[in-house]
Amino acid sequence: GNGVHAGASRSLASCLVASGVRNFSLAGSPAYSSLLGFSVQNLRFALPGVRKPAAVVLPASRRDLRRAVLCARRAAAAIRVRSGGHSYEGQSYTVAGAALGDGGAPFVVVDLMNLNRVRVDAASATAWAESGATLGEVYHAVARTASPNGSSSSSSLAFAAGSCSTVGVGGHVSGGGFGLLSRKFMLAADNVLDALLVDAEGRVLNRGAMGEDVFWAIRGGGGGSWGVVYAWKLRLVPVPDTVTVFTPSREGSVDAIAGLVHRWQFVGPALPDEFYLSVFLTIGGASQEDTNVTVSFTGLVLGPRELAMSVLSERFPELGLAATELSEMSWVESAAQFAGLGSAEELTSRVSKTKHYGKNKSDYVRQPVARDALAAILRYLSAGPAGYVILDPYGGAMARAGATDTPFPHRAGNLYGVQYGVTWDADDDGEARMSWLRALYAYMAPHVSSGPRAAYVNYIDLDLGTVAATAAANRSATAVDRARETWGASYFSAENFDRLVRAKTRIDPANVFNNAQSIPPLQRHD
Ligand code: FDA
Repeated sequence: GNGVHAGASRSLASCLVASGVRNFSLAGSPAYSSLLGFSVQNLRFALPGVRKPAAVVLPASRRDLRRAVLCARRAAAAIRVRSGGHSYEGQSYTVAGAALGDGGAPFVVVDLMNLNRVRVDAASATAWAESGATLGEVYHAVARTASPNGSSSSSSLAFAAGSCSTVGVGGHVSGGGFGLLSRKFMLAADNVLDALLVDAEGRVLNRGAMGEDVFWAIRGGGGGSWGVVYAWKLRLVPVPDTVTVFTPSREGSVDAIAGLVHRWQFVGPALPDEFYLSVFLTIGGASQEDTNVTVSFTGLVLGPRELAMSVLSERFPELGLAATELSEMSWVESAAQFAGLGSAEELTSRVSKTKHYGKNKSDYVRQPVARDALAAILRYLSAGPAGYVILDPYGGAMARAGATDTPFPHRAGNLYGVQYGVTWDADDDGEARMSWLRALYAYMAPHVSSGPRAAYVNYIDLDLGTVAATAAANRSATAVDRARETWGASYFSAENFDRLVRAKTRIDPANVFNNAQSIPPLQRHD
C-alpha cells in the first residue's frame, strides 16, 4: 500500500543522496510525470490504471548506475531498467499488477537516457556505445567519423541494427536487433565484441569477468534478466559511400497484390546479401466502393542504382520497378529516411514525433504461403481496424549463423519474419483492437512456424505467457519448465532457453532482475 511505497521512497532517496546520485525524481514531485512519460513509447502503459514507480532515477555516470542498483535493493524496491522505452509491453517501466501475484511491491525505474555517449574508433572499426544511446545517436556518431582508410576510401562505416531512430541500443541489442543491413551483417547482437554489465551486487563485469555463458546470454536473451548493460562494444561494418533506396507502392485487385506478395516470398529471402526488400501491408482501410488493396515495399541496396535495377528487373520483373523510383544517397541519409526523418541531423533527436496506443505480435514463415491463402489474408487485413503487417526478409547472412550461436534462433530455414501491429488513439476501443489482433494471429496459425510457434523477443508479446499467469495455471511444473513451454521455446528454442537458464542462475540467482517474461533461475529444488 501507500505506506510501503512512502517508506521505500524515503529510504531510496536518502540512500541516493548519501551516495551522491543527484538526478532522481520521486512520485508526486514536480518533474516526475514528465521524466517517467518521456520514454513511454506505448500510451497503453501511460493510462492511470497502470502502476507507477516510486521513483525515476537517471544515472549520469557508471558510478551513479551502480549506486542506483544498490540503493534500489537496499530499499527493497524492484528495478526496471529503461534505455529507449520501446518495449511493446512496457516492460522497462511497469510491473505486473497485484492481481498477477507480485503483491504490489514498490519499484524504481532506472532510466539510462543520460548515459548516451558513443565513442567511435574508426581505425579499429569499433565503437563503445552507452546503453541509453538511441539507434539514431549511434548511426549519427558512426557516420560522422572519417572512413578508416582516409578520404580516398569509397566505403564508409555503419552499424547493423533496426530502423526506428529512437529505439534504445540497450533494449535493442539485448533482444537481437534486426534491420536493413541484417541480410549482409546479421543482427546488432551478432556485432557485439564486449560489454560492461552491472550485476545485482553492483559489480561492473566485462566479457572476461562475466564469462562466456553470460556474454552469450546478454546478446539476444532479452533485456531485463541479467543486470544492467552499461555499455556495448560494437563492431562497425563497411558500406559503400553510395547506397540505393526505393519504397515503391503498388495498388491492385486482391488477386493481383496476392500474386505480387506470393512472388516476393521466393525473391526477397534469396536476393544477394547486399539487397533488402521487405513488404508492408496495411490493416484496415477497406471501403465498400474500393475493392483494391495496396502493398508497399521497402528496399535498400548496398550499391549503385544500376546494380539494383539490373538484379531486381531480372529476379522480380512482376514488381515493375522504374529507375525513377530509386534514389542514391549515403547510408546515414538512408537510415534517416527509413526512420521517417527529414535529414541525418534529426537522427540525434530522442523525441518520438507520434505516440500511439498499440499491441504487436510476431511470427516466422518457413514455407511460402499459397497464393489463394495470401488473397484471403489480404481480405482479412483490409476489413480490420488500423495497423500494419511487415514481412522482413531473412536468408543471406542471417541463414549462415547457427541457431545456437546466440540466443536468437531464427536463422537458416526461415524465409521471413512477420510483425503484426494494431494502433489506436485515446477515443478508440483498445480492447476490441487487441481482440481483433489475437483473432488474426489465430487465423494465421496454419501458415506460419509451429512446434513451437516461433516469435521474436524484441517484439515482446505477453499473450505467449507470463511468469505469474503460468504459475497460477500449473502449480506442479517448475518455473523453468513453464517458461520453456510458453514463451521460452518460442523466442529462443528449447535448447537455447536451457542455456539462458544456466546463465541466469550464474549471474542473478536471486532473480533481482526480472519482468513478466524474464529468464527464471534454477531453484534448489528444480
Ligand atoms: P526499453 O527501454 O523498453 O527496454 C526493453 C527491455 O530491455 C526491457 O525489458 C528493459 O528492462 C530491458 N533493458 C533496457 N535497457 C537495458 C539495459 N541497458 N540493460 C539490460 N536490460 C535493458 N526491433 C528490431 O529488431 N528492429 C526494428 O527495426 C525495430 N523497430 C522498432 C520500432 C518501434 C517504433 C518500436 C516501438 C520497436 C521497434 N523494435 C525493433 C523493437 C525494439 O528492438 C525493442 O522494443 C527493444 O527492446 C527496444 O529497446 P529500448 O531500449 O528502446 O526499450
